Amino acid sequence: MFITFEGPDGSGKSTVIKKVYEKLINDGYPIILTREPGGTPIAEKIRNVILDNDNTALDARTEALLYAASRRQHLVEKIRPALKEGKIVLCDRFLDSSLAYQGGGRHLGIENVLNVNLFATENTYPDLTLFFNISPEEGLKRVSADKKRIADRLDNENENFHHDVYNAFLKVVNDNKNRIVVIDATKSIDEVVDSAYKIIKDKLNGLR
Ligand code: TYD
Repeated sequence: MFITFEGPDGSGKSTVIKKVYEKLINDGYPIILTREPGGTPIAEKIRNVILDNDNTALDARTEALLYAASRRQHLVEKIRPALKEGKIVLCDRFLDSSLAYQGGGRHLGIENVLNVNLFATENTYPDLTLFFNISPEEGLKRVSADKKRIADRLDNENENFHHDVYNAFLKVVNDNKNRIVVIDATKSIDEVVDSAYKIIKDKLNGLR
């Protein structure tokens, strides 16, 4: 079972995914928690290039290809082997982030970015994706209120960028209703964790 968590910056999904992971570990499931971009040493190196605030000259297509390259490495080295061992893989961001950020935010087109990614992943789609829904305004408010968070190259993009990302996310959600479930991320952390946990349990129990 391959499960991904998606959403705009500041949606809280990274906090939620850790809590859900701990709950599922407590239930005794074999499970790993990983994230994108990154997840393996080579993929983390690619991540550093992508998110480095000094890389102002990074071209949009280069950026899309680097995310896809990092994803490829992560899939081959970590995700696939874990799935083969029968583990549940929880992944913080995957394909849909590229469709939203590079397809929408960078205006490369969702379809173009999808094609690059299908090449990279040999058509790997998650079995279940949770989309943590929060408007870009609310999300960015949370990001700037979080003093511990160091803004990366994408966090630092302007409001229009984050709007385009959000709208592309909504389109991707709408086009993939079979695998994407929307969660209201404006609720309290505990409520959001409970909803995410319940949806995953239902999926694991064959109820969805
Ligand atoms: P990260 O610090 O992991 O963000 P968050 O904690 O919000 O998930 O940084 C990842 C950034 O990279 C984030 O702004 C989203 C962006 N991103 C893309 O643009 N395309 C992608 O394919 C992925 C995986 C992430």
